[in-house]
Amino acid sequence: MIDIHTHILPGVDDGAKTVEQSLFMVRQGQEAGINTICATPHILHQVTPQFEQKINRSFDLLKAKIAESESKVHLVLGSEIYVREDINSLKKFDFFTLNKTGKYLLMELPWGQFPLHVDRIVFELQLEGQIPIIAHPERSIITKKQLGNVENLVQKGALMQVNAGSLLGFFGRKIKRMTEELLRQNLVHFLASDAHDHFSCSIEILPQAFSCASKIIGEKKAKELVLSNPQRVIQGEKLTNSKIPLSFGSE
Ligand SMILES: [Fe+2]
Repeated sequence: MIDIHTHILPGVDDGAKTVEQSLFMVRQGQEAGINTICATPHILHQVTPQFEQKINRSFDLLKAKIAESESKVHLVLGSEIYVREDINSLKKFDFFTLNKTGKYLLMELPWGQFPLHVDRIVFELQLEGQIPIIAHPERSIITKKQLGNVENLVQKGALMQVNAGSLLGFFGRKIKRMTEELLRQNLVHFLASDAHDHFSCSIEILPQAFSCASKIIGEKKAKELVLSNPQRVIQGEKLTNSKIPLSFGSE
């Protein structure tokens, strides 16, 4: 399995605080059968060269420690960008994309809302040849009616990543039901841990969430969410099972 959304880098955001904690998360992932982990630190503001350096240093340190520990887990770098109206001012998109392929951007919406400017941002990113992946949309939906917002974004070419913890009910029954509904409506492309530490919503709950998703959409489809779709993202390739805009992959 591949986990495309974690806060595993030590000391850069509200995720792992020390490299020891990060390594514990890596071990949890390995024991749970996860062979690739994408580190996606929060990007909340305009990024300074110093912050970029801090992320790179933290990534290099963890990668070296993983190699030292002889773990077989492959670590790749990405980010989770908080959606703001002026997202286009974050010019260095390649740096932020998952595995730096210049293709897939993981984006976080404000809790409980789908701002109007998300549509425009999805459109503008696609003009640049990038595909937005909306992180945990189930947390932004308050009513069932808002499932239409997710559907609208998917039709416009955005992809959706739900959290393992949401599906397992860690954030309450309402969010669990919304996640199940998104799965039933075929509006989910990825299942990931969004792990911030090695405690409650840790990387190791991903297989459990996979089993849960399998019961709703079948094992074959569930595998796409934790294996084949993430694999394509890491490689910067097109997904075969979604509405990908024509601009993508035309180079
Ligand atoms: Fe996150």
